[in-house]
Amino acid sequence: MTDNKETVRKLITNGGKTPLCFLHSFGCRQNVSDGEKILGLLCDIGYGVTEDITAADLIIYNTCAVREGAELKVYSLVGNLKNLKKKKPELIIGLCGCMAQQEKTVEKIKKSYPYVDIVFGTFALEKLPELLYKVLIERKQAVDIGEYSTEFPEDIRPVRTDRLNASVPIMYGCNNFCSYCIVPYVRGRERSRRPEAVIAEVKELADSGCKEIMLLGQNVNSYGNTLDEKINFSELLRRINDIDGDFRVRFMSSHPKDATKELIDTIIDCDKICKHLHLPLQSGSDRILAAMNRKYTAEKYMETVNYARSRIPDFSFSTDIIIGFPNETAEDFADTMKIVRQVKYDNIFSFIYSKRTGTRAAGMEDLTSDEEKKARMKELLEVQREISSGNFKRFIGRTLTVLFDSDDGDGIFSGKSDEFIIVRAEADSSVIGTVRKVRITKSFNWALQGEII
Ligand code: 5AD
Ligand code: SF4
Repeated sequence: MTDNKETVRKLITNGGKTPLCFLHSFGCRQNVSDGEKILGLLCDIGYGVTEDITAADLIIYNTCAVREGAELKVYSLVGNLKNLKKKKPELIIGLCGCMAQQEKTVEKIKKSYPYVDIVFGTFALEKLPELLYKVLIERKQAVDIGEYSTEFPEDIRPVRTDRLNASVPIMYGCNNFCSYCIVPYVRGRERSRRPEAVIAEVKELADSGCKEIMLLGQNVNSYGNTLDEKINFSELLRRINDIDGDFRVRFMSSHPKDATKELIDTIIDCDKICKHLHLPLQSGSDRILAAMNRKYTAEKYMETVNYARSRIPDFSFSTDIIIGFPNETAEDFADTMKIVRQVKYDNIFSFIYSKRTGTRAAGMEDLTSDEEKKARMKELLEVQREISSGNFKRFIGRTLTVLFDSDDGDGIFSGKSDEFIIVRAEADSSVIGTVRKVRITKSFNWALQGEII
């Protein structure tokens, strides 16, 4: 491979020029993190990175397959590239990620988008230089959706797009097979990274000035299950908390079936861990939860919430909710709304159920109309708006820790608090990239406002 890599480098750099690649990642933080690894591979063979798609010699869309909407968007974008490729025949177009891991995508690309040069799935990420070699030497479409292997690309150095706020995968894949979800099929079985590798990466980020580290896994609560060493997620968090440096730590996602009191205690004990838990509920109906194969009940979910609130009365929770799972009835939806009102989430990410070919739920009968699903979504969003707006009032007069990362214009800057809530304040550009104490003076239903102390 090294020889091929050298050949690719020579071909693309063609007498000293630096070719440019444009990469866009859709979907979750794990996919964005994979995108950073792909950029790492590309820079290693001689590419520079551009954010201007028209200047690129290589365009890669790193896709998401969780919902149909994300897939349709990619097809539309790839369709738009046809003209660019006509004007610039030497342009190389690649499609990768979760959507590209599926046979049906490969077939559709071969049939309807023949000008796409490379298709590679999540199992074949590290094969990209080899695929480029095929395209450049053989001048034909190179496809590799690979064989699933328990290996993962531990030795690729990512090119980080955000140095303040970095993602660190602690595990890959998923074993849960929630009946609606495509992830286990496109990302393979769960495997954890060795704690030493995770800790070394966090240390390096902290030393280089990173202020927030997001630990990633489809279910971080089962961290360690595939390792010989006996270590669970709480122990990993404690080891990370012991690393020197001025940074804070978040993680996602936490499956409620595996969320323990030990986890809540660890979050509360460790000063670097944000006091916030993203705990995807999906549904508040036990009937639907069973059909989703979630392996917990609404009561078990509430035990975790109540335990955290017994220790910190306003412990911050956010969640994911799916509306309109096959045959979700009005009563099932009412059960979801009951939990939403009880937990009083600070934030909810809600999705209308999207049928994914190959999953168990795809074969389930669904008699609920689209109108009904839309009406439920509207009701959920309205109720949540009221809840957030009521919740956020509790912060008025309190001081929150905020990592400022954006300039909203007119002298207003914003960032996220430890609780994962947007906080705005008057400041100047020197505030970007710093962690400040902010006294909250005002609340909206989507954010807080305050004065930097
Ligand atoms: N339809 C709608 N939402 C889905 N999610 C996962 N699969 C689907 C699907 N088929 C949502 C879940 C998950 C989030 C990342 O995406 O709520 O927690
Ligand atoms: Fe999908 Fe469930 Fe795995 Fe999350 S835990 S990735 S929802 S199968």
